[in-house]
Amino acid sequence: MTLHRLAAMRAAGEKIAMLTCYDASFARLLDDAGVDVLLIGDSLGMTLQGRDSTLPVTLDEMAYHVQCVARGNRFAWIVGDLPFASYHTGTEQALLSAAALMRAGAHMVKLEGGGWTVPVVRHLVERGIPVCAHLGLTPQSVHALGGYRIQGRDEDGAERLLREARELAEAGAAMLVVELIPSALGERLAQSLPIPVIGIGAGPGCTGQVLVLHDMLGVTRGRLPRFVRNFMQGSDGIEAAIRAYVTAVKDGSFPDPAQHGY
Ligand code: KIV
Repeated sequence: MTLHRLAAMRAAGEKIAMLTCYDASFARLLDDAGVDVLLIGDSLGMTLQGRDSTLPVTLDEMAYHVQCVARGNRFAWIVGDLPFASYHTGTEQALLSAAALMRAGAHMVKLEGGGWTVPVVRHLVERGIPVCAHLGLTPQSVHALGGYRIQGRDEDGAERLLREARELAEAGAAMLVVELIPSALGERLAQSLPIPVIGIGAGPGCTGQVLVLHDMLGVTRGRLPRFVRNFMQGSDGIEAAIRAYVTAVKDGSFPDPAQHGY
């Protein structure tokens, strides 16, 4: 997988299937099952470390898991999450943090937020580091946002999100993840931006979809957001569940706006 291939998939209307992944064994399995993009998300703070937010995750921990995934992967595009406070003090800090993940085997780094991140994105892209932006519910800002709440619901919020997304794409972001926003806004973003828009709780109109691996395999305990579907139900094993996810994303049957949308 390459950036050009991802852009060609978007242009051809082929949906992009992305999942979080944190280790070599799952990287091999997801790659074999046809997942296009593996995201080493800082959600590993919850899924692997048992914490209640992504905030404590460190750059060294992210680099370790990027290395593990890169060893197991053969074809998929690898995105490494820049963790909380690893790009917040300025462009030079962001470059050093991104370099740590690229050296570990990432093909692209992801960072959260709009506005203040625009010069950071431009700085990384100009230096040859592909960047995925992340808007909507941005978990590193969970306390500022007042919890895991739907974003962009009113007209002002939606316009702000559209503006920030446009600015990030103009700065060179080659992909955008949007989390927990109304389906109509997800579709507007995907139609108006020149880059792939990957949704998580953002409706079927996005260019592609991403879920947290442990959520879609039914491993996560407790109440899950409504956008999650447990793909183990109706599948006779983990690989079958991953293949069912890829198929459902590609044929547009996941997410179902009535069941998983806002
Ligand atoms: O950290 C993560 O897993 C993410 C996804 C929820 C998109 O950012």
